[in-house]
Parts: sequence; structure tokens; C-alpha cells
Amino acid sequence: MKFFLDTADLAEIEEAASWGALAGVTTNPSLYARIGGKLEDFPAHIKRICDIVGPECPVSAESVAMERDAIVADGVELAAIAPNVVVKIPTMVEGLAATHELAARGIPVNMTLCFTVPQALLAARAGARYISPFIGRFDDISDDGLNQLANVIDAIGNYDFSANTVNGEKIEIIAASIRSANHVTQAALLGADIATVPFGVLKKMVQHPLTDRGLEAFLKDWEKVQNA
Ligand code: E4P
Repeated sequence: MKFFLDTADLAEIEEAASWGALAGVTTNPSLYARIGGKLEDFPAHIKRICDIVGPECPVSAESVAMERDAIVADGVELAAIAPNVVVKIPTMVEGLAATHELAARGIPVNMTLCFTVPQALLAARAGARYISPFIGRFDDISDDGLNQLANVIDAIGNYDFSANTVNGEKIEIIAASIRSANHVTQAALLGADIATVPFGVLKKMVQHPLTDRGLEAFLKDWEKVQNA
């Protein structure tokens, strides 16, 4: 499983990138608003993220247009920011049509706000490079987000979509809307290709009380060694 950071916060991205486990970044309009982002600064901000993570790491930047041609125009502009930009498009009719068009132009798309198997299959048929089933938002409404993710992974795995994607690349499933380290564990066991995680969850993924306890004991014993 690869890890993407689900944030628009440059300090978080710099910190996570320094850990050596970061394979990409996903942003969305809410995450950009959360850091006080301004509309006119958006392209430069996405460029900064691309520069921090490097050319091998895809960076998803979302179009908020609602109509096919406008989404395509957004997508072309976003893709021009850096070669590793992935255009993030909501799973809706106009979004599918735009994805189809952008894929035909060789521009990779991450279809977001995906909740069901039919949505994921349509995204794959349209040519999406990444599909982002949301886990946490299902849990928020007392549904089982992991079960829905499992269904999407199974269904996509049943078919060969290589002819439908940019350059025939394999579609990757991004487990999104992740709220806990356990979501990451379960998504990995289900075979999700990628987990996009908030920085808080990434930090929790490193932690375990037995690691803390063990470390404390090692440090105490090393003091004994130094004073022996
Ligand atoms: C995915 O790319 C989205 O940005 C994200 O995972 C949404 O998560 P949320 O439900 O925590 O807002």
C-alpha cells in the first residue's frame, strides 16, 4: 500500500515527505479553505506541493466546475501546473464525461466522492486513473465504509480496465475519507492500492503504547549501562 497525504497544508506535507513514506498528496476545496487558501493563489499552491513531493508523487487538485466543458478546461489548466498533477473530479454525470475527455488527452483523473460499486465501475470505464471510495463519510451516517470499500475493490478487480485508462495504466484504488489507523489497516488488508490519510492519522500510524513502553525501558537500561 502506498500513502498519500490528504491535506493542503505545506508544513504537514514537508514533514510527512521527510519521513520517506509519502507517495502523493490529495487536496480538495475544503482542505484548501481550511488553510485559508485564496482562489488566485491556488495554482501556485499546487505547484509548491508538487515541488515539495517531487515529480514521482501525484498531487490531486480538484475542479469545482459542474459542467463537462468547464471541468475539462479546469483539468487542462490544472494539469499544466506540473507534470505530476492529477485532476480530481467528483463522480457525477458531467464529471464522467469530463474524465473521458481528459483521459483521451492523456491527463490523469482521480474520481472523488465515490461511494458505490456502480459509481466506481463507471469511473473506471470513463478512464479514471485513480478512484477514491470514501470510508469515513459512510461511517458518519452509520453505514460500513470498509464494507463498501471492499465491494469496490472486488468489483474493479473483476475486470481489466487497462484499455480505458491513460496510457493503459492500472487503475489504483485510493481509500479516502480515512479517520483512523485502523481504517488504514483494514484498507490494506482489503488490498486498496493507496490510502490517503490526514496528517493526524499518519502520526497515529507510527504510534503504539508497547513501542513507547519498550523505548522507555531501553533508555532506562542504557542509563544503567552508562553508569556501570
Ligand atoms: C479524498 O481525496 C478526500 O480529500 C478526503 O479523503 C475526504 O475526506 P473527509 O471525509 O475526511 O473530508
